[in-house]
Amino acid sequence: MGVVGTGYVGLATGACLAYVGHRVTCLDNNEERVACLREGGVPFYEPGLLELIAKSAGRLQFASSERLTEVVRGSDVLFVAVGTPQGSGGSADLSNVANVARAIGRALGGSTPRELPLVVVNKSTVPVGSAYYVSTLVGEGIDEAGGQGAEFRIASNPEFLREGSAVHDSLFPDRLVVGTDSREALEALRTLYTPIVEQSFPTEWDPRPKVAVPFVTTDLGSAEMIKYASNAFLATKISFINEVANLCELVGADISEVAYGVGLDDRVGSRFLSAGLGWGGPCFPKDVAALKATAREYEHETPLLDAAAAVNERQRRRVIHKLQRDLHSLKGRRVALLGLSFKPNTDDLRGAPSLTIAGALNSLGAKVVGYDPVAGKAASQLTPDIQAVFDPYEALRGAHAAVVVTEWEEVKGLDPKKVASLMREPKLIVDGRNVLDAVASQEAGLLYRGFGLGYDRG
Ligand code: UDX
Repeated sequence: MGVVGTGYVGLATGACLAYVGHRVTCLDNNEERVACLREGGVPFYEPGLLELIAKSAGRLQFASSERLTEVVRGSDVLFVAVGTPQGSGGSADLSNVANVARAIGRALGGSTPRELPLVVVNKSTVPVGSAYYVSTLVGEGIDEAGGQGAEFRIASNPEFLREGSAVHDSLFPDRLVVGTDSREALEALRTLYTPIVEQSFPTEWDPRPKVAVPFVTTDLGSAEMIKYASNAFLATKISFINEVANLCELVGADISEVAYGVGLDDRVGSRFLSAGLGWGGPCFPKDVAALKATAREYEHETPLLDAAAAVNERQRRRVIHKLQRDLHSLKGRRVALLGLSFKPNTDDLRGAPSLTIAGALNSLGAKVVGYDPVAGKAASQLTPDIQAVFDPYEALRGAHAAVVVTEWEEVKGLDPKKVASLMREPKLIVDGRNVLDAVASQEAGLLYRGFGLGYDRG
């Protein structure tokens, strides 16, 4: 089988399927990325992925997209896992997917007849209806190559992995979703995923009892919608708890107690109820925007999604307001941003709140120093708004205020006394993830503010 695209999704998919026993070739048109992978590296920070690739050596190959024709000819299944960045008006930009689909068609059209049709699987997050679009483009590619009767089938197999735990999520998914109107495609994917569904591969990672992974089969459009609805729901859940957190500050309640009490209801669930400065990353903002854009195509309103996005924007502004409340003017103030990646255990800065907050602080005249265990250098290269340092205490030295943006262990483990000894008055800590010990911080002489933590600590 083949995988086109070696981002988080493509690489985790390829490596996991190779690990459970399949022969996989991963393709990418970024030569630097391919060279890195061939030399045994991983082009981004993702815990465990390097080890998984090493364990799959012999079954897993990396090659330039120039070898697409060869891979198409030698594969039963080909995953498309290229990027779908946010395009104009919030809709997903499908140009990468379209280019790959046409190229697959040309490769199919120029080849000798196959025993089995090629199953082309959309793994990239694409709007509802894209499978038909891809099908049309593969067909056009076949025509361009003059190939008559080159057979293929389309399936949608959305990916739900989280960055930072991509390996775990790929090997132990909550569910696998396959949408297709082809029996052959369904059977090919069922066979491919059998080791994961049955959890019948050797593992030293997860000692949990092996239970079958639900294999959800559906039509194409529903599979595509499941992906968007899942991400939009999770984003809305976070915005919901942030809305409640903001009310907690007004009425003097504590959101951590409230979220605990609410989350114990099985129907709600305790995950994704952490209040703070909101969601970011390459998926939630883009997918919520794309779902809204799809709705607009049908002249349909999405008040709930609009509100989820608006609440999220507001959370980032609240950081600035919290700084202004205690520092008043931010002009000339030194503010440390602790954690820059959009969440811990990744170096990904796409949709990272740190970038928005740094931009806002700079425009108000503050000097921003940023610390991140892995994304510091990339952040300072990306924006002149952040001066990156590689030690959290260095970032805090002489700072009037610090904002916990990303809850890295290195940030959670800071010694409040040392922090207080390095900072300048008013020694304000805005804990954007509610992860520091508020009492210990206050006892050390820091002015602690979290999100939704009653009157005093809000
Ligand atoms: C998400 C989905 O979880 C995954 O299923 C999908 O495939 C891709 O998008 P990811 O973007 O890697 O994964 O991050 P995730 O761990 O879901 O966090 C998303 C954002 O929500 C982060 O910015 C995180 O800081 C924020 N978050 C998460 C909260 O603010 N509160 C929470 O309780 C949980």
